[in-house]
Amino acid sequence: MTSPVSLTLRRPDDWHVHFRDGPMMEAVVPHTARQFARAIVMPNLVPPVTRRAQAEAYRDRIRAAVPAGVAFEPLMTCYLTDDADPAELAEGHRAGSWIAAKLYPAHATTNSHFGVTSIDRIARGLEAMEKAGMPLLVHGEVTDPEVDIFDREAVFIDQVLGPLLRRHQGLKMVLEHITTAEGVAFVEEHAPRVGGTITPHHLVINRSDIFKGGIRPHLYCLPIAKREPHRRALRRAATSGHPAFFLGTDTAPHTVDTKESACGCAGIFNAPVAMQIYAQVFTDEGALDRLEAFASLNGPRFYGLPPNEERIVLRAAPLMAPDAIDVPQAGRSVVVFRPDTPVGWTF
Ligand code: NCD
Ligand code: ZN
Repeated sequence: MTSPVSLTLRRPDDWHVHFRDGPMMEAVVPHTARQFARAIVMPNLVPPVTRRAQAEAYRDRIRAAVPAGVAFEPLMTCYLTDDADPAELAEGHRAGSWIAAKLYPAHATTNSHFGVTSIDRIARGLEAMEKAGMPLLVHGEVTDPEVDIFDREAVFIDQVLGPLLRRHQGLKMVLEHITTAEGVAFVEEHAPRVGGTITPHHLVINRSDIFKGGIRPHLYCLPIAKREPHRRALRRAATSGHPAFFLGTDTAPHTVDTKESACGCAGIFNAPVAMQIYAQVFTDEGALDRLEAFASLNGPRFYGLPPNEERIVLRAAPLMAPDAIDVPQAGRSVVVFRPDTPVGWTF
């Protein structure tokens, strides 16, 4: 079989990004806008995006950072706190200020200290979202320090998500950046009201890679990469064509000094290389014909949006991408994710 020399796809969307704000945002937005037509923007700023007016102002700042001539639409989210206002949530959704709300269990990950301390506290907000048809996006990890870090997703699914779905029978949910076979099974069991996003890095690294030849801080993110059988389960799910799985890069920039530190930040910056890596994974799995569903069709269907009409073209050639990008005003750089395995797609 001859390999294709190029790959033409409906322009994809990224259903999970972190843009930050200020100079960092200005440096990273062009990389996502180059690959994707739309992106769901995570609200974990400091302070977090909890009010409609904040989401709208943040959206304006992101739009201003999109290079001239590039069409890109940020889709905003609301950060859920214990005192989330049900009326504000629903009204923001109705008015188009945001498309979904994000649940960070308090202290689960970067900038989650304003997050939810118990699901009971947001029950009225979840009811309002259920009525409004507004999806709940979930960072699915328990925060109990007694639970081993590699078990936190599976325990969360079992202890928190099962009961939550039973209590809110009409609530639509996305389990974000799934990293386990349990995550895959949960999404399959509850589709179509539940979807799951899968990152490029969790498709290409397992937990041993984080310690290959020494500690590799640029491979540290949350949820942390798991054992090899979990990576394989994620690859099967992403490339299966199942409509509940869709693209979400979880691109999460941190400056190099905060990553390469005695207590390094969690987050992997993959925006410049995301589609190239996904294309390589689908190539390796013999599933290139299913890449468009994962990248460009399943997400819009879940969110009730039309798919994009434009096309992007990837070329079969060794990946060309910078090792790092500069954040000029901050005088810092952000390291770009790069798997150890070859990537044979570029654009
Ligand atoms: C994210 C960040 O840096 O904001 N970090 C990460 O490791 N993925 C937060 C998150 O999505 O957990
Ligand atoms: Zn994230």
